[in-house]
Amino acid sequence: MDATFPALMIRDEVAGSRRVQLTRLAADELGEGDVEVAVHYSALNYKDALGITGSGRVLRNSPLVGGIDAAGEVVTAPAASGLRPGDAVLVNGCGLGERHHGGFAARIRVPAGWVVPLPAGMDPRSAMILGTAGFTAALVLQRLRDNHQTPQMGPVVVTGASGGVGSLTVRLLTAQGFEVVAVSAKPALHDWIRSLGAVKVLDRRGLPLGWRPLESARWAGAVDTLGGETLAWLTRTVAERGNIVAVGLAGGADLRTTVMPFILRGVALLGVSADHHPQEDRCAVWRRLDGDWAIPGLEQILSEEIALGEVPAASHRMLAGETHGRILVDVNR
Ligand SMILES: NC(=O)c1ccc[n+]([C@@H]2O[C@H](COP(=O)([O-])OP(=O)(O)OC[C@H]3O[C@@H](n4cnc5c(N)ncnc54)[C@H](OP(=O)(O)O)[C@@H]3O)[C@@H](O)[C@H]2O)c1
Repeated sequence: MDATFPALMIRDEVAGSRRVQLTRLAADELGEGDVEVAVHYSALNYKDALGITGSGRVLRNSPLVGGIDAAGEVVTAPAASGLRPGDAVLVNGCGLGERHHGGFAARIRVPAGWVVPLPAGMDPRSAMILGTAGFTAALVLQRLRDNHQTPQMGPVVVTGASGGVGSLTVRLLTAQGFEVVAVSAKPALHDWIRSLGAVKVLDRRGLPLGWRPLESARWAGAVDTLGGETLAWLTRTVAERGNIVAVGLAGGADLRTTVMPFILRGVALLGVSADHHPQEDRCAVWRRLDGDWAIPGLEQILSEEIALGEVPAASHRMLAGETHGRILVDVNR
């Protein structure tokens, strides 16, 4: 019997086509941890694409198996963990695919404290259509709610709406009763974004961004996956006591704005990070994604299902803005 497992290994110090290689790992090469998981699905996230292509400093170890998301079933676990062989589980964040061999492999070994039992209504496939993007959308909703954003205050604008986090956030916020205005640079997908629940889709490329410290207030709140000039525009256009949740940097990491929106309109700029949450909190968020925060119509948000060997090419397409929705990775195909 072959006791090795396919894995997508990234060598950070190597450029070009040799940077990423489909290889096989033996059980004693899976890294530290007390729980072994047979991975069924992973997913491709923006951070994965940065690591695979070497476009951003994502990898903290090299060589490393990529993939910040994984879902499958427990193979072995210590009795004290409460996990049993065959249990359906997921792992997201916690350094997976950044410091520790990640989900682009048929087998992972991780500390028990990273493992989230799948809620009853999810299987590894639906969990990975959500993945880090769905988890982040839930954190966005939590942040908005905690800071008193309500649907009654008016529309919330979501940027990068065709992306994984963007599309799932549109879907989740509309399912929770918020009126969502989406911003996307892909006119061909505007109908698709409307079908997710957005009342209106604006073309990012034609937006009058303005320049004054305060422009006319247009939204009661905002969720931004782009950063840079788009986030600066949102600070100028969110109404009194509105919340802006900064999620990503697909358009740039800088932020040039003034204090005016914060001191004259009482706007709040909030952050979310999917990475570092105690296990109890991560489990609670995943349970809500299977409960009152369930995101309907997940198959509609799934755009591609790819094999491990197709991850590098898909990563380049993602960073070129040529993908949309969620990309599922079938690690056993
Ligand atoms: N804070 C956290 O914990 C957390 C968690 C997950 C993701 N993120 C971040 O959130 C962002 C989105 O992640 P994702 O996985 O959803 O990625 P994604 O699926 O690639 O979505 C990104 C979207 O941004 C837009 N975009 C792409 N390239 C762009 C560019 N050069 N300039 C302006 N807009 C561009 C596109 O939307 P349109 O064409 O529709 O405009 C694209 O669909 C990334 O920066 C990621 O690192 C953060």
